[in-house]
Amino acid sequence: VQTVQYRAFGGPDVIQIVDLPEPEPRDGEVVIRVAAVGMNFADVLQRQGRYIEPIPLPFIPGAEVAGTIAALGPDVAAQTSLRAGMRVMAVTGEGGYAQYVVAPAAIVAPIPEGMDFIQAAAFPLQGLTAYHLLYTAARFQAGETVLVHAAAGGVGTLAVQMARNMGAGQIIATASSAAKLALAQQLGATAGIDYTQEDFAARVNELTGGYGADVVLDAVGGEVLERSLQCLAPFGRLVVYGMASGKEATIAPIRLAQHNHAVIGFYLPGVASRPDRYGASLSAVIDMILQHEIELIVEQTYPLVAAAEAQRQMEARQVRGKVVLLP
Ligand SMILES: NC(=O)c1ccc[n+]([C@@H]2O[C@H](COP(=O)([O-])OP(=O)(O)OC[C@H]3O[C@@H](n4cnc5c(N)ncnc54)[C@H](OP(=O)(O)O)[C@@H]3O)[C@@H](O)[C@H]2O)c1
Repeated sequence: VQTVQYRAFGGPDVIQIVDLPEPEPRDGEVVIRVAAVGMNFADVLQRQGRYIEPIPLPFIPGAEVAGTIAALGPDVAAQTSLRAGMRVMAVTGEGGYAQYVVAPAAIVAPIPEGMDFIQAAAFPLQGLTAYHLLYTAARFQAGETVLVHAAAGGVGTLAVQMARNMGAGQIIATASSAAKLALAQQLGATAGIDYTQEDFAARVNELTGGYGADVVLDAVGGEVLERSLQCLAPFGRLVVYGMASGKEATIAPIRLAQHNHAVIGFYLPGVASRPDRYGASLSAVIDMILQHEIELIVEQTYPLVAAAEAQRQMEARQVRGKVVLLP
């Protein structure tokens, strides 16, 4: 069956399409015939060999899938309500860029009625991230101002909408093009800043009368993170959840003390290992989608064989919202 593999670290040209045997489910496992795969910026970082956790080669990327159950492990039908042919979704962490993926039954969930395969593959990772950035890490409160970097991205478009629904005061979006800022503003951002063209920290201070943003969500890192501290309000929280720029930042702790600033790290797998937090947040995000409180922005889908082209677009920062592969 058609499968995408990284056999080396490097640019999009290391992406290979290979033909592997259809996986067989063992006890406790389910084989999913993949209909849609959510693409994440982490897929690109893994390929470049600069992801937060090193990956073994060869590697099949693809952290979240939606599809139908093709086969069940010997004990699965007896021990769960999963059945062949069911529409399901799973955050597999890897292996999704393929026509078939094997997943532990415990992480396979039915797709709710009213949600299609593309939607089911588009929200789990980035939706849960946006949710926990605001609710868990930042403890965002109604009336507060939030600065969302890369606001037109997968996590960004969802964080902007959730902040809007939480009663944010100002929602200040940054992005690298006018088209991206237009999307962020359409989704609820009250101001947009092209941070490649203007000093975003100065602009945030101007927009807040010198006070700054109560919360900053940053996964760019480097200079963007350092400058974010220059427009963080007293008692403000800067949540660090990635480093798309590939550049580490330097922070002076005594300056945090001086301004009552908090810098908080966030990494979704830590939530996944806390069933109490994970399940409740997953249900909350599903409700937001089914109630049309948030919109999933999927502007581009690609066939599996075009995975390299899709990643090239992501790496070049040419995409808005979510990109979904269709095996
Ligand atoms: N901690 C966690 O658990 C967790 C979970 C999910 C995602 N993440 C991280 O969150 C970030 C967003 O993820 P996503 O999947 O939603 O991706 P995304 O935001 O759709 O894409 C990444 C965006 O980062 C911005 N960016 C800034 N500097 C960049 C650079 N030097 N190279 C490439 N992009 C750059 C670009 O937006 P502009 O062009 O508008 O600047 C780009 O579109 C990623 O860094 C990802 O690793 C972390």
